[in-house]
Amino acid sequence: MEDHSNNYLYFGQLSGERVIKMLKVYRCWICGETYLGEEKPKDCPYCGADEEFLKPAEEYEYPEVDLTEKSKENLEEAIELEVDNATYYYCAYNKAETTKTEGMFKRLAKVESEHAEAISMFLDIEEPEIDKDVENCSEELKANIEDARSREDRAMEHYRKFAEEAEEPRVQELFEALVEIESDHLELHEEELKGL
Ligand SMILES: [Fe+2]
Ligand SMILES: [Fe+2]
Repeated sequence: MEDHSNNYLYFGQLSGERVIKMLKVYRCWICGETYLGEEKPKDCPYCGADEEFLKPAEEYEYPEVDLTEKSKENLEEAIELEVDNATYYYCAYNKAETTKTEGMFKRLAKVESEHAEAISMFLDIEEPEIDKDVENCSEELKANIEDARSREDRAMEHYRKFAEEAEEPRVQELFEALVEIESDHLELHEEELKGL
C-alpha cells in the first residue's frame, strides 16, 4: 500500500500557509470595484486602471460630483462608446477559434462593460444592459483585431477631448485613466497583429 502520509502533511502545510495569508481590501478609484488580496495587483483586474488608483477601501469615495452640462453630455457619449465596444468584443469572442483569442476578447468585453458601469456611477444612473449577441464583427480574426484597434483609438480620441473639457477634477481623472487603459488595449492589438 502506498504511503500518503507525506501528502497529507504537505496539504496540511499548504492550508497552514493559507491561514496566515493576510488579505487587504482595496477599492478602485476609477471603477469602484473591490479587490481582496495580500498586495495590490499592477492594474485593477476589473477596469484595467493603474495600481495608483487602487486605494485602501476606507479611502474610497463615491463619485458624487455636481456635473456640468458638458460633462453630462460627454459621460453619456462615453457610455455609448463603451457599450458599443463591449458588444463588439462579445461578438469577436463568439467568433474566436483559439483559447487565447477567446479569453482575450471575453476579458476585453468585460473590461469595457466595467467602464460603462463606472461611467454610469458618475451619472448616477443604472448600468446599461450589454447585449452579448450583436453581430457587429467579422468572421475573421485579423479583421476583428484591426477593427478593435481603431475602436480603441476612437475611444481614446474622445476621452482625451472629454478630459480637457471636464471642469470637475474627478471627471477629468476618470477620462485620463480611461485614455491610459484604452491605450494599453491598443498596444495589445498592435502586438497581436504582429503575430498574424
Ligand atoms: Fe477599476
Ligand atoms: Fe473602455
